[in-house]
Amino acid sequence: MKLFLDTANLEEIREIKKWGVLGGLTSNPTLIAKEKPDDIETYMKELCAEVDGPVSLETTAVKADEIYEQGIRLSQIAPNAVVKVAMTPERLVEQDIPVNVTLTFSPAQAILAAEIGATYVSPFLGRLDDAGADGMHVLWEICEIYEVQGYDTLVLAASLRHPMHVVEAAQAGADVATMPYEVFAKLVKHPLTDIGLEKFLADWNKLEKELKEGA
Ligand code: G3P
Repeated sequence: MKLFLDTANLEEIREIKKWGVLGGLTSNPTLIAKEKPDDIETYMKELCAEVDGPVSLETTAVKADEIYEQGIRLSQIAPNAVVKVAMTPERLVEQDIPVNVTLTFSPAQAILAAEIGATYVSPFLGRLDDAGADGMHVLWEICEIYEVQGYDTLVLAASLRHPMHVVEAAQAGADVATMPYEVFAKLVKHPLTDIGLEKFLADWNKLEKELKEGA
């Protein structure tokens, strides 16, 4: 399973890149608006240049024709741009443009995404949980259907809120897990690791002190 960062913040991208595990990036209109860029397209180019992997850039148009036109423009921003679109992406797929079908909340929507040949389908686990549904169960269903049907569309588990979402997405067989910086940072943490490091360091310092005093 590849790990993607869900952000539009360049500093967060640079930080996670240093870890050597950044497989790609997902952005959305809310995340880009948060960064208040002077020029949206220039900023999207910067995001794509920062990441060695696919970068999802989302359409904001409402009508099918306009979504198509905007999708074409977004796909030309950089070679690693993936067009993130909530609906009617079939014309973009026909043009061989990599599409990420976003805001997916049901296996039925995921079947449609696969049937039109989308590159990614993005079930939003956290938002399903927020609505009183079971996001992880929906992810399992989608992964199972894709396995049984032999679909090529990659399952990109999105709206992940904590490390267990990431672990369970891996168990379910998701191809990608995208998560905000805070969740990425929590993946590395375990209280026993911190306690262990503290103890090793204390023992080492004690030994060095003893050796120095004995010399
Ligand atoms: O970018 C898509 C998605 O991961 C958003 O997550 O936490 O806003 O539901 P969230």
